[in-house]
Amino acid sequence: MDNSLKKIFSEGLTSLSSVFASNKFKDDALGIDIGSSSIKVVQLKKKGGKAVLQTYGVLSLGPYGKTDIGAVTNLQTEDIARALLDVIKESNVTTNSAVIAIPSLSSLIFTLSLPGKISESQLSKIIPIEARKYIPVPISEVALDWFVIPQEAESFETDTENESIVKSNIEVLVVAIHNDTLSKYRDILKKTNLHSDSFEMEIFSNIRSSFNHDLAPVLLIDFGASKTKVSIVEAGIVRVFHVVNRGSQDITKNIAQSMAITFEEAEKLKRSVGLDAKIDSKVASIISLSIDYIFSDISSVVLAYEKKYNKNISKIILVGGGSLLQGLLEGAKENFKIEVIYGNPFSKTEAPAFLGPILEVSGPEFSVAVGLALRQLS
Ligand SMILES: Nc1ncnc2c1ncn2[C@@H]1O[C@H](COP(=O)(O)OP(=O)(O)OP(=O)(O)O)[C@@H](O)[C@H]1O
Ligand SMILES: [Mg+2]
Repeated sequence: MDNSLKKIFSEGLTSLSSVFASNKFKDDALGIDIGSSSIKVVQLKKKGGKAVLQTYGVLSLGPYGKTDIGAVTNLQTEDIARALLDVIKESNVTTNSAVIAIPSLSSLIFTLSLPGKISESQLSKIIPIEARKYIPVPISEVALDWFVIPQEAESFETDTENESIVKSNIEVLVVAIHNDTLSKYRDILKKTNLHSDSFEMEIFSNIRSSFNHDLAPVLLIDFGASKTKVSIVEAGIVRVFHVVNRGSQDITKNIAQSMAITFEEAEKLKRSVGLDAKIDSKVASIISLSIDYIFSDISSVVLAYEKKYNKNISKIILVGGGSLLQGLLEGAKENFKIEVIYGNPFSKTEAPAFLGPILEVSGPEFSVAVGLALRQLS
């Protein structure tokens, strides 16, 4: 098991352009996305250079935590393992070669701006020291990984030892994951008899499965049950990562509270009405209050980026189950005044044609799981 998180960036990024470039592949791969409200699994098989979809499935975690479907859970490892085994069985998964996602909530992602000339080897000493300012626990308790964000070509030069030296300020994307989190996921794998070589941060899985060689800055919104994860990605590289402290569960809670109904009833209304005032104007207006909050938080992230780098976001890609809210795509278009599309991760897989329409609709929910399985095949 790769504890040091080494290569999470490089693998995540190279596979964007060459999903099957490496020969270190396995024939079957199971992507496992343990979200706060549900587990998603996707099994792919490599056949003739293609990733063939074998099976996929989703299971709500609510009932395992004695709460509702769609609700955020905080389960013990044993319960997660039990749920994972259930979804594996229900979905007829046949491989134990797995990759599991580390949720953004269990990690920290930030960029460090480092001045002056720094060699690659110096970086490995400097980053753990600089990262301390961002990490609220002792640095010995976390696994760190980083990726130097490429600058304009002229800011690089090579020294006599052929080591890459950076002339001006460099920006480094750093990921920190608590060791306890890694042991928890390792424990889940052990309890479920699954084998895995590495973990991956969910954002990188999303990029692999839902991006299509976009060079211009793209805003990726993963609308989950507990939080909304926002990233700005340029040529496959994460430039900004931000978590909006609201998710789709908050919408359900607001509906339940405002209308004095149960969570279960509110969840149904959320899914059937969405932002469509013609169906139910009261429900739609409650939902739009929550969406406005999330959009305005995202807008400030976008504005800060556009100002700092003097570049505009070219489009928005929506993923996560919460993004299936009726009218959200149109609402995002209206709010951000740019192209908005849904992630279509299954388009990177081969599947029977008759499944096409359903895979397109459920794609956003499975974006992380598909990306994980694709990684394993690469
Ligand atoms: N058709 C729909 N309309 C509106 N909301 C929906 C729809 N389908 C699912 N959701 C909501 O999506 C959320 C689940 O999304 P997702 O599976 O991406 O979350 P998660 O991965 O469990 O959460 P997180 O990523 O925050 O840990 C739930 O809150 C659910 O109510
Ligand atoms: Mg999620």
